[in-house]
Amino acid sequence: MNASLLDGLRGRLPELALKTAAADLEYYGRDWTRRWTPAPLAIALPSSVEEVQGIVRWASEQRVAIVPSGGRTGLSGGAVAANGELVVSLEKMNRVLGFDADDRILAVQAGIALEAAQAAAREHGLIYPVDFAARGSCSIGGTIATNAGGIRVIRYGNTRNWIAGLTLVTASGEVLELNRGLVKNSSGYDLRQLVIGAEGTLGIVVQAQLWLTDAPPESNTMLLALPSFEALMRVFGVLRARLQLSAFEFLTDKALAHVVAHGAQKPFDEDHPFYVVAEFDADTEEKRDAALTAFGELLEAGQVADGVIAQSDAQAAALWRLREGITESVARYVPYKNDVSVRIGAMPDFLAQTQALLAQEYPQFDVVWFGHIGDGNLHINVLKPDAMENADFVRECGRVTALLAEALQRHGGSISAEHGIGLVKKPYLSSTRSAAEVALMRSIRHVFDPAGIMNPHKLLDTGSTHPVYGETA
Ligand code: MLT
Ligand code: ZN
Repeated sequence: MNASLLDGLRGRLPELALKTAAADLEYYGRDWTRRWTPAPLAIALPSSVEEVQGIVRWASEQRVAIVPSGGRTGLSGGAVAANGELVVSLEKMNRVLGFDADDRILAVQAGIALEAAQAAAREHGLIYPVDFAARGSCSIGGTIATNAGGIRVIRYGNTRNWIAGLTLVTASGEVLELNRGLVKNSSGYDLRQLVIGAEGTLGIVVQAQLWLTDAPPESNTMLLALPSFEALMRVFGVLRARLQLSAFEFLTDKALAHVVAHGAQKPFDEDHPFYVVAEFDADTEEKRDAALTAFGELLEAGQVADGVIAQSDAQAAALWRLREGITESVARYVPYKNDVSVRIGAMPDFLAQTQALLAQEYPQFDVVWFGHIGDGNLHINVLKPDAMENADFVRECGRVTALLAEALQRHGGSISAEHGIGLVKKPYLSSTRSAAEVALMRSIRHVFDPAGIMNPHKLLDTGSTHPVYGETA
């Protein structure tokens, strides 16, 4: 049946690259969660917007579910295809389309890697400021799907601040040009912003217009060792008041131990429970002195136990590796990832409650904390013991996530700060969004995709009566 179904697609789009080899189904059917067994119908690799339209029209007629696919570095299962879906990989659509100097807009195809878009921006003396460790593998389309944040949100905000326009292929195969690079556009609903963070449920983003900005002043990086969790937010308050911060990231001793075991250099002789990587403007003597003074005062006040300010670009890169290398260093433990956020003001209380909760509920697991504490965003990774079955591990983590979600609800936080809801966080969406909000989101989704073919089962269940291919398999 699959073969004849695909013959129909081939007949419709003879030039379309299609992959069906077992290794390809496996490769394109999973993301970094590695929780589901990949089982897509096939992989379509369109080369043009017209091909994407053709695929979507065919899928809509045949009621074949589609999973839009970028670099699959996602951590919530948003790009997983484990249910007979057609993966639509944008990897062949990875070109820069143009640069508009007046508007400082870089137009790209959605399959371009974030790092390639950043490099293209630099060629024009500007930057695309969204940045995070997976920059080399993730795609711009994927960053739009999740409204990706990363390490410089504290200065630049999330992806949604930088998307000047989008080209969307809808579930019916129409092409929408959303916002078209306008700075000001008060002409009704901003569908561009609705699509950003929609995790491929409202259509396939095929092109994007990225706003670029001036390169920041010369910066420097410091690593601080902290004696306690309480010190974290205090140190943040002091550094934010005294320096121009572009990043304020934290990690625990356990996170550091994993990165060091993975090849990074241990920064201090002594061990400390918490560490901060802070990046700050250092283009003048005055700013460099301010950093030294703040550091000295924090040391004297006992808020900081040790520290180092990078003396070279290589040393700054080595300090950043301690933070950016965490995900890779714990990957072999198939971590259960929490990506939660609260307002900065709620952070001290939330941290204390969460620390107590996890100490009580997870005594048996290695729990690695890190994240973008300056944005109120914590990553809590629970590492799977080698001897434990993945299903048992996920069940146990899910039980504790429900408690964490309750704590988030009490603090007005979010169950997903930047990774998206996907499949992983879907059961907890109601901790962050009211029933009325979820009902509206479901209705919006139905308007965009009445047949329920766009990334079904991700983000929220639609309750659509339209059959989805593979659902009963
Ligand atoms: C990070 O901040 O390093 C990313 O969100 C990836 C992760 O959480 O593992
Ligand atoms: Zn992150």
